[in-house]
Amino acid sequence: MKDIEKIPAAFDPATGRMDGVPLTQRFLHDLRGCFRDTAAFEKAAAEGNPLIYTVAGVEPAAGDGDLHYGVGMIMPGRIGDEYYMTKGHLHSWRDAAEVYCGLAGDGMMLLEDEDGGNSRMVPLGEGKVVYVPGRTAHRTMNTGTVPLTYIGVYPAKAGHDYAAIAQRNFSCVIVERDGKAVMLPGEKTR
Ligand SMILES: [Fe+2]
Repeated sequence: MKDIEKIPAAFDPATGRMDGVPLTQRFLHDLRGCFRDTAAFEKAAAEGNPLIYTVAGVEPAAGDGDLHYGVGMIMPGRIGDEYYMTKGHLHSWRDAAEVYCGLAGDGMMLLEDEDGGNSRMVPLGEGKVVYVPGRTAHRTMNTGTVPLTYIGVYPAKAGHDYAAIAQRNFSCVIVERDGKAVMLPGEKTR
């Protein structure tokens, strides 16, 4: 374990950046396969490759009882009527849960059981906390007009499994309808 005073602690709730922590950046072209409206995705991808989200990950130690955390930022925007979103993942250690706390902005989390069932849409934004149980695929999206920032805390040994989601995507999609976020079965949005 590092000396705790050496673990990065300061973050900017407006930008999701942390001093001294490398930033993982995901651009539109990195999210091929995530958006259900492939025509809207291809049109947007041909026009440019905007930044969609960033994560500043802090991994102080990797023992059985340790925790990792990341400050995330998702830009406001949409592809068709789907909000800018993260790739989404399951944890490699399926039992690992995670707590998300909203720091600024407005968003939603899409949670689904490992088998793609039991989809639910949960608000995540300033003043909101979301408990993501184990064996639950989770994806976050910005439904507002300013960057959505949040912190996620999870067991150090959780790991990230993006492959399962890349293969089948989420069953449901969260889209804008008349200015509000609604969840629909994915096949209804193609
Ligand atoms: Fe996670």
